[in-house]
Amino acid sequence: MLTLSEACERNKGPILEVLRTEFAASRSVLEVGSGTGQHAVHFAAHLPHLTWQPSDLGEQLAPLAERIRLEGTSNLRAPIALDTRDEPWRVASVDAVFSANTLHIVAWSTVREFFRGVGDCLTAPGVLCVYGPFRFRGQYTSDSNAEFDRWLRARDPDSGIRDFEALEALARARGLVFSADHALPANNRTLVWRRPPAGA
Ligand SMILES: C[S@@+](CC[C@H](N)C(=O)[O-])C[C@H]1O[C@@H](n2cnc3c(N)ncnc32)[C@H](O)[C@@H]1O
Repeated sequence: MLTLSEACERNKGPILEVLRTEFAASRSVLEVGSGTGQHAVHFAAHLPHLTWQPSDLGEQLAPLAERIRLEGTSNLRAPIALDTRDEPWRVASVDAVFSANTLHIVAWSTVREFFRGVGDCLTAPGVLCVYGPFRFRGQYTSDSNAEFDRWLRARDPDSGIRDFEALEALARARGLVFSADHALPANNRTLVWRRPPAGA
C-alpha cells in the first residue's frame, strides 16, 4: 500500500496556486526530496506545460516510483536517485527547482550542498521554490513552529528550522536573487529565488 502524508494532502492545493504563478514560464522542474510523491503527482497533473522530475535518496525510491507508476501523468518522469550531498548532482539542467520540507530535515552542511547543486543545475533564467517552515530575523512565525524546531533538534541536533537570512546568503552566493515570500497555511512559506537571464 502507498504511504500517504496527510500534510501533503492539506498543503498541495495552496502550494499549487503559488507554483501556477512562479512556474508559469518554466518548462522543466527538478523536485528534490519528493518523499511520497503526492506533490509530484498533483503538480504535474495540474501544470501540464511542465516536465516534472522527482527525486529522492536511493533508498526512498521504490515507493515513490510506485506512486508515480500508478498515479502519474505523462509529463511526470520516473524518479531518480539524488542525494543533495552528491558532487556533482547527476541531473539534467532545468529551469526550475522545487523542494518541500527538506531544509529543516537535513544538516546545515547539506543545506549548503543543496544550494551548490541548485546553482549548478539551474539555467538562466531559472527559478527555485522552497516550501516549509522558516525563521525570519531570528523569530519563529508561530509558537507551533518553535515547538516543532525543539522537537527536530532533540531528534537530530544537526536539523532544525532555518533562518531565511542564512538561506538568502547561500542563494546569493550562487547567483540567485530573492524574489518572493508566499505565506501559506499552517505557518509555512514558499520562498522563491530567481536566476536572472544571461547578460541581464
Ligand atoms: C520531511 S520529508 C519531505 C517529503 C516531501 N517533500 C513532503 O513535503 O512531504 C524529507 C525528504 O527529504 C529526503 N532527504 C533527506 N535527506 C536528503 C538528501 N541528503 N538529499 C535528498 N533528499 C533527502 C527524505 O528522504 C524525504 O523524502
